[in-house]
Amino acid sequence: MATSRHLLAILLTLIPHLVYSNSSNGFFYQELLNGNGNGEIHFNGVKLHVESEVQSVFAVRGSNVTLPCRYWYDPVLNTPRKIRVKWSWLPPSEEHESDVLVAIGHKHRSYGEFKDRAHLQQLHPGQISLLLTDVRLKDSGRYRCEVIDGLEDESATVDLELRGVVFPYQPPHGRYHLTFQAAQKACAEQDSAVATFDQLFSAWQDGLDWCNAGWLADGTVQYPITQPRQPCGGLSMAAGVRSYGFRHRHLHRYDVFCFSSSLRGRVYFLEHPEKLNFTEAAEACREDGGHIATVGQLFAAWKFMRLDRCDAGWLADGSVRYPISYPRANCGPSEPGVRSFGFPSPHHKHGVYCYSSQ
Ligand SMILES: *[C@@H]1O[C@H](CO)[C@@H](O)[C@H](O)[C@H]1NC(C)=O
Ligand SMILES: *[C@@H]1O[C@H](CO)[C@@H](O)[C@H](O)[C@H]1NC(C)=O
Ligand SMILES: *[C@@H]1O[C@H](CO)[C@@H](O)[C@H](O)[C@H]1NC(C)=O
Repeated sequence: MATSRHLLAILLTLIPHLVYSNSSNGFFYQELLNGNGNGEIHFNGVKLHVESEVQSVFAVRGSNVTLPCRYWYDPVLNTPRKIRVKWSWLPPSEEHESDVLVAIGHKHRSYGEFKDRAHLQQLHPGQISLLLTDVRLKDSGRYRCEVIDGLEDESATVDLELRGVVFPYQPPHGRYHLTFQAAQKACAEQDSAVATFDQLFSAWQDGLDWCNAGWLADGTVQYPITQPRQPCGGLSMAAGVRSYGFRHRHLHRYDVFCFSSSLRGRVYFLEHPEKLNFTEAAEACREDGGHIATVGQLFAAWKFMRLDRCDAGWLADGSVRYPISYPRANCGPSEPGVRSFGFPSPHHKHGVYCYSSQ
């Protein structure tokens, strides 16, 4: 009760016009104003504020990231109050938040995908930032930082955006074969995740143009066009990310847009005396201490390490591609990109791209 008497003292000196009320638990409480939705509440004339100084934080896969958040009381309290801090996460394409971390005093607990990766950073009073280690592709989304003081709580949000690369993906058996679930599996096998709309949109801003429709993480099907043209919806349709809307996740089949981010380790073209069929290629990478690279790994190396090699090579899914960062004669179009020869017969002879975690 010392705390409430203390608050009452503050209150009576600062806000003489406050109405005095007697609540059932004997604890004095009077809401002066309705919270303005901006992370503040009022009790006994003391306001609790919760704020993140930034709207968005950017990260790459595998890095550690801090999502800033802090709280304070106005006027300043001399007696610390026992509060609960809760961080939750709203994935970009879902409606339900999930718990990331709950902390009371110096004890905290993290949940689900965030277990052992989420920590509270409290370097100075009022700081309740979230430290997330080993960021994963699926960590992007909106994070809510919430302070619970007695019956009241206030919160602020901060968005985590991953830097990465979006690539359209079509499986070996051809165009428009993937249900939503098969699309998720196809991206996962390429060391990537189904892209979100925001990720596809920013890839389109960077020039991605693709005339086949693909699944996105929210269950919509879309395709990005920078150069309107006849076979892709016609000349009268504006450039943009064009949407077929939500499609049936089990009945409808499309390609998919996958998203990959930076990777630990490296991707390299294997120096080998002769060209190899697909089986030999996979074996040669193993003998070299690694494994045959996935499509997502090749895109990540192209995007983040500027991998540039004008030699076609096998990849794990049976496709043959090569990465060009510095376009030049006889190495494909004048734009940088990962060039594809599709899925040749596995007995054809090519080079190979390997991945090594070292
Ligand atoms: C508050 O409630 C207590 C117990 O119900 C009562 O004794 C007291 O007079 C009340 N005070 C006011 C200001 O209403
Ligand atoms: C992230 O933090 C962990 C634990 O503090 C540390 O072991 C690791 O090296 C850090 N990773 C990076 C990429 O800084
Ligand atoms: C690749 O070549 C080896 C012989 O070096 C052969 O045994 C294997 O069947 C070939 N694989 C394919 C897919 O052609």
